Amino acid sequence: MGLSPMKELVLEAQKGHYAVGAFNCNNMEIVQAIVAAAEIENSPVIIQASQGAIKYAGIHYITGLTKLAAESVKIPVALHLDHGTSFEQCIECIRSGFTSVMIDGSKHDLQSNIELTRRVVEIARLFGVSVEGELGKIGGTEDDIVVSEREALFTDPLEAERFCKETEIDALAVAIGTAHGQYKGIPKLDFERLREIKKKVSTPLVLHGSSGVPEEAIREAISIGVSKVNIDTNIREAFTEAARQVIIDNPKEIDPRKMLGPAREAAIEVIREKIKIFGSSGKA
Ligand code: G3H
Ligand code: 13P
Ligand code: ZN
Repeated sequence: MGLSPMKELVLEAQKGHYAVGAFNCNNMEIVQAIVAAAEIENSPVIIQASQGAIKYAGIHYITGLTKLAAESVKIPVALHLDHGTSFEQCIECIRSGFTSVMIDGSKHDLQSNIELTRRVVEIARLFGVSVEGELGKIGGTEDDIVVSEREALFTDPLEAERFCKETEIDALAVAIGTAHGQYKGIPKLDFERLREIKKKVSTPLVLHGSSGVPEEAIREAISIGVSKVNIDTNIREAFTEAARQVIIDNPKEIDPRKMLGPAREAAIEVIREKIKIFGSSGKA
């Protein structure tokens, strides 16, 4: 199968009350792990690449590896730009073969975010490419801000209604208490806000910063209406820990395959676990 538009995957998930996992890749082994895990689970899957991943691996390696991976399996696979911040970058990804882009205009004011996101939607539509927008600010665990300050950055349900209507995006990333990276404590999600957003918006919702969020909270967010769940940090942890263990056990090892092979296996395991929690096993 070739690469599928993200929109089809998340609309199916919305109908079926489960979520599709969107897993960040940075290299060949992680692309292989994402697709292998999804294939074992017979699940649709979204492979996503951040600007950092594209800078590290090169855009043509990302699209080339991902297309090959998708063609080698029967499950639906989408390729998504994670947190694109400019119009030009979204266009570059569309030209290169991505089937979905995120335009993260969350640092702009509402009107400018709407205008930027709408411009990307108009072009992406012409190519059958899906678009995710972001409203509210998700941020990182390292952004040293207190809870009350973070809450001020959460997605406003009325603004979400206007944002989705005026931009016609295919998926909306919401800020409800999650953050990117490793959490210091246990994150507390604002489910009431999520319910309010869900009442006002029919667009599939996306949960970012999902590594380290307790399983029950993820399940609750999905039951309220989240249809795409982003995971990066938990893959990094599993991948790097496995490679590190090989070096600790055998400090003289020089064969990269001896480190990256176990790292890939560890990534497959963590991705399979996530897919089971998201409820997308058997939904391909
Ligand atoms: O949302 C952020 C992702 O974890 C990507 O992180 O920019 O370090 O590739 P990165
Ligand atoms: P984590 O690294 O916290 O899982 O967040 C991933 C993410 O939201 C990518 O957009
Ligand atoms: Zn994110």
